[in-house]
Amino acid sequence: MARSVLFVCLGNICRSPTAEAVFRLQAKGRGLVIDSAGTSGWHDGHPSDARASAEAIRRGVDMSYIRSRKVTTQDFYDFDLIVAMDGQNMQDLRAAAPEGSTARLVKLLDYAPGVSLSDVPDPYFEDNFSEVIDMIEIACAGLLKGI
Ligand code: 4NP
Repeated sequence: MARSVLFVCLGNICRSPTAEAVFRLQAKGRGLVIDSAGTSGWHDGHPSDARASAEAIRRGVDMSYIRSRKVTTQDFYDFDLIVAMDGQNMQDLRAAAPEGSTARLVKLLDYAPGVSLSDVPDPYFEDNFSEVIDMIEIACAGLLKGI
């Protein structure tokens, strides 16, 4: 059973911090360690995208405490489960995984059978934050049941 979950996207300012904050709320009281990170490091130290935070706050989800960070080698030992937002994140994670990595790598939308996509679309360019948080909420609820 996973006790620690790391959500990963490209920039760690849109999708994975949204998933972190949504899942933290849903999993409240379960004692899980929850975090998020990006494969790129492009936005290291930055708060989440204001469009993602605004959409989250509308649904009662606070993302204001999150700062972007890059995935580290240590993450592959520290987290039981690493949850990729899309197939490219998954490829990048597999490439970065150290010898003896103990984390299980999965994709978020594998936990949302009712959602027809297999990748969470990148809202940074598509500006579809509402659609993206909808599917993140559904998939995180599925993930919580599945772990
Ligand atoms: P995220 O979205 O991976 O969901 O955080 C992106 C954020 C920034 C960029 C791309 C995607 N960027 O190109 O800077």
